[in-house]
Amino acid sequence: MVKLSEGANRIYGEAAFEVLAKAQELERQGKKILHFEIGEPDMETPENIAKAGMQAINDKKTHYVPSIGLLELRKAAQDEVEKTRGYRPDLEQMVVIPGLKPGIFFSMLTTVNPGDEVIYQDPGYPTYGSVSSFLGAKGVLVPLLEENEFRMNPDDIKSRITKKAKLIIVNSPQNPTGSVMTKSELDEIAELAEEHDIFVVSDEIYSKMTYDTKHYTPTARDEAKERTVLLDGFSKYYAMTGWRLGYMVAPVKMVERLQDFLVSAVSCTAAFTQWAGVEALTGDQSFIPKMMARFKEKRDKIIDGLNSIPGFSCLAPKGAFYAFPNIIETGMTSQECADHLLYNAGIAVLPGTAFGPYGEGYLRFSYANALKNIDLVIERIKEHFK
Ligand SMILES: Cc1ncc(COP(=O)(O)O)c(C=O)c1O
Repeated sequence: MVKLSEGANRIYGEAAFEVLAKAQELERQGKKILHFEIGEPDMETPENIAKAGMQAINDKKTHYVPSIGLLELRKAAQDEVEKTRGYRPDLEQMVVIPGLKPGIFFSMLTTVNPGDEVIYQDPGYPTYGSVSSFLGAKGVLVPLLEENEFRMNPDDIKSRITKKAKLIIVNSPQNPTGSVMTKSELDEIAELAEEHDIFVVSDEIYSKMTYDTKHYTPTARDEAKERTVLLDGFSKYYAMTGWRLGYMVAPVKMVERLQDFLVSAVSCTAAFTQWAGVEALTGDQSFIPKMMARFKEKRDKIIDGLNSIPGFSCLAPKGAFYAFPNIIETGMTSQECADHLLYNAGIAVLPGTAFGPYGEGYLRFSYANALKNIDLVIERIKEHFK
């Protein structure tokens, strides 16, 4: 029988989409489900951005454009990096991508060989492990511990670096824990990478989504000129998940290869989406602080609520929109607890183990949901854990 490739059997998906499918099946059967599983803002794309996208379609911006991205958007992203990260990358370092995820994929394809070691956080975003596995690389897990507020400890990276280490993936603010790394921790990681000649890919999709904490990047050290790669995107803080738009700042030697990956895989990012992106970066920014004020209210409500449930305890996240409660005292595993909530209480959440083995004992709640649903979710959990 004809067989699929080995890589095809090694790549894997995301539990969020599996849980969503299960929850939707229950809804088809007439059950009412509270959705706390999917990681996207519960707001629509701001009108000025949506209008710019529609205008671009009206203006017939519906053709192929350069694979590396429109000059206008690359320049806007270049200004944005200077404003937010404190260094100005060269235009040649700027690449537009159709969502941040392809940026993870392409930057790993350009840096990792089979047998190399890729260092990343656990619990962490599943794509890093999936792509490592697809590439035949070895995933080296750095545990994120509650006692360290789920921040990656640079010493834990240091002790795991071998001669095979090729890439460190950093994600701050972090999914699923909402932790935000400090400047000195990120600088230390960049320094370690330099010392051991390793690449660093920094997934900064939640960069504008912090609560009273500043966001830093490990790419400041070499200004993404030698070994660090900055990935950022429009999905979360401009509520543009479906538009598929992001950008990367990478060393020029890498950009040349990335361009060929983009040509081979997607040709280019949709032109009208890119025009919406120009408006997002250069137009009115008031949407973001408003959204974050709402998220802060939701965060405070869900954290207070979770901490009032017997068997649950939860740190307040410093960024993103995820609560990651410890449920060890319920006596259930993460999977048992998530299934119990879905099938008995009609609440869809993710088990911490969907993000790696160190997620055992935790659940992830995406609190991008209405305040009244947060109240309801806490009430329902309390009833089921009496
Ligand atoms: C850490 C992290 N990186 C990347 C992504 C995906 O971003 P995009 O939708 O722009 O591909 C997500 C979405 O959940 C995420 O949490």
